[in-house]
Amino acid sequence: MTQKKVLAVFGATGQQGGSVINQLLSTPAELLPNTSKFKLRALTHRSLPISSSTISLEQWHQLTNSPQPANTASCTSTIQVVSKVDFHTASSLLPALENVHTAFVMTTPSFSPSLNSPKNNSDDKEFLAVQNIVSAALSQKVNTIIFSTLPNITELSSGKYTSVTPFDDKARARSYIWSLQPQIRSAFVSLGFFMSNWLTQDFLAPKYDEETQSWVMRLHVCGQTGIPLIDAGRDTGKFVAAILESMDRRWGKEGDHGRGKTVVAAEGVYTLDGIAEAFSRHTKQRVRYEQVTEREFREESLKGFPESLKDVLVEGYKSLEEFGHVGTETEASVEEGKKLVRECGLGGLVSLEEFLAKERYVLGEGSKSKQWGP
Ligand SMILES: NC(=O)c1ccc[n+]([C@@H]2O[C@H](COP(=O)([O-])OP(=O)(O)OC[C@H]3O[C@@H](n4cnc5c(N)ncnc54)[C@H](OP(=O)(O)O)[C@@H]3O)[C@@H](O)[C@H]2O)c1
Repeated sequence: MTQKKVLAVFGATGQQGGSVINQLLSTPAELLPNTSKFKLRALTHRSLPISSSTISLEQWHQLTNSPQPANTASCTSTIQVVSKVDFHTASSLLPALENVHTAFVMTTPSFSPSLNSPKNNSDDKEFLAVQNIVSAALSQKVNTIIFSTLPNITELSSGKYTSVTPFDDKARARSYIWSLQPQIRSAFVSLGFFMSNWLTQDFLAPKYDEETQSWVMRLHVCGQTGIPLIDAGRDTGKFVAAILESMDRRWGKEGDHGRGKTVVAAEGVYTLDGIAEAFSRHTKQRVRYEQVTEREFREESLKGFPESLKDVLVEGYKSLEEFGHVGTETEASVEEGKKLVRECGLGGLVSLEEFLAKERYVLGEGSKSKQWGP
């Protein structure tokens, strides 16, 4: 019997990484013949109380306090676990990537001013984290990296918006990883706006307005602004599995047209007005979207936020309004990503209304902790 190749998953306790693990372990091998050849290795920053590095999926969910989706309940597969893996500690990354063939890499934002930006005055921590990971991957001769990137807003806006560092850092990291071809093969997924943001970011949640007796969502951009949405905790894995499955066909061959292309991952592009309507249909109450001035957004909705984070949010939404998530081709890119998932038989992405139903969303409830149910 041939030994399985190891697929390491960064951020395995989070939405993206958790979804990758659940998806790969719950999809029948007939659907994903290439991907099913991998053994999963979950990488966590935490220190877990385990005596063996290989545990059952059920044990993994118990240890990390994450709900196990119903479709993995009968799954008997085991996963390797490496704990205390820190993006910022190079020595912890070497054992994490030992004998790894492919790594799914996600990183977390530093919210520091971008190195590219004239406002820069500090180290770009997220980009440094990627450099650490890549350096360990090169030492360990990792074959392939699938990196969770985002569009470069400074470039997309031709220098108009330079504060959206969580995007720009990931775009810069994408270019860096891509420059390492053919030493490390790479593929990229660019996730849309997470539906879970409405559960975790209070300023987005509809607020009750006595005057109009309705629930109102307020941002400083127009109601027709289009936003690609994804249920990251449930659907990231579908896109990553589809990339893995089609990698050799689409990316591996010299001259292949699709080589290195970023897959945009979203269930659909929703307008803000359309999002409010979805909340209305789910809650059976009147929910509407209202555009406010940038000043109101900064001073009321984002009251108490650090100025640098306000800049990220103000400019991030303005860029979406003026330039689209990935430019004029946003809708087409979303459709292309969905097609890739469909072609692998992994269709059935979660819509916003389905997400609200699965989360049993109730208007006026405070923000939830980051745990997502099956
Ligand atoms: N919100 C959106 O709309 C949106 C859209 C597109 C992209 N994104 C990007 O998505 C990323 C967040 O992804 P997510 O929601 O899946 O994350 P998440 O659920 O918040 O989880 C964060 C993960 O990162 C791990 N982690 C944190 N610090 C670490 C460190 N120093 N070293 C190693 N691992 C560390 C955590 O591991 P432990 O639990 O083991 O500590 C956890 O697994 C951000 O970069 C964000 O910019 C967000």
